[in-house]
Amino acid sequence: MRLNSPQINLIIKVCMKASRSLIRDFGEIENLQVSTKGPGDFVTSADKRTEKILIEEIQKAHPEHGIITEETGIINKSNIEKKWIIDPIDGTMNFLNGIPQFAISIAYEEKGEIICGVIFNPIINEMFVAEKGNGAYLNNSRIRVSNKKIIKDALIVTGGPKGNSKIKNKIFSEYINVSKNVSNVRKFGSAALDMAYVACGRFDGYWQRELNYWDIAAGIIILKEAGGFINFFEEDKNNPLKKNIIASNSNIHNELLDLISK
Ligand code: IPD
Ligand code: CA
Ligand code: CA
Repeated sequence: MRLNSPQINLIIKVCMKASRSLIRDFGEIENLQVSTKGPGDFVTSADKRTEKILIEEIQKAHPEHGIITEETGIINKSNIEKKWIIDPIDGTMNFLNGIPQFAISIAYEEKGEIICGVIFNPIINEMFVAEKGNGAYLNNSRIRVSNKKIIKDALIVTGGPKGNSKIKNKIFSEYINVSKNVSNVRKFGSAALDMAYVACGRFDGYWQRELNYWDIAAGIIILKEAGGFINFFEEDKNNPLKKNIIASNSNIHNELLDLISK
């Protein structure tokens, strides 16, 4: 891989470190699933444990940088120039059920622009990496979005609605509308990996409402560097960390936009 900025090297190092305990924790899930207590509390602590390692390692290198994380919230809020955006486990529900479709997702942002990002599935050892201007990679191979040209042939991925969503009906009807106009729709349960899979051409497009910025921050740079197009829609000015996204290869992007009832 030809990416070697200090930030990308740091992200890769912290991902590798945190993944060791994450892999151990995932191995425990099978036992916990059959216990009477169930794996619920354990999973919460796996999220927290992973996040703690990631924060500690980044703070060792850059104590003054801002950090936005799912579990801890915002650290060094006043540093708006240099920020790390972390989701320690994206795909917790899969993790909880012993399904190896989850990832550590970390992005680094300068002056509001994402500079680099990593999405790492430690169970199948797939690391998606990108740096602004230098392309996107899966492990050591350059990746690109698919070349699918016709929306009717496209395989699209989505997620949600969340259990407490107030717009479930809207999301379900959107799902029906997209499903009728594409080859098929998948729900894989990790927004970060959904984005990474569009970046490497496994899926042709992705859309989802009610996301948080940490779900997709690393995915944004990976997908862009892989030649993908991204739109945010119905943005909430009072809540900039909430995101609705449409992402795909360039050929089908406008058609996918038209299928979403904005
Ligand atoms: C979730 C996953 C899931 C998406 C949810 C997210 P989590 O993140 O990305 O695919 O549908 O909206 O909250 O809770 O597993 O980190
Ligand atoms: Ca997430
Ligand atoms: Ca998470």
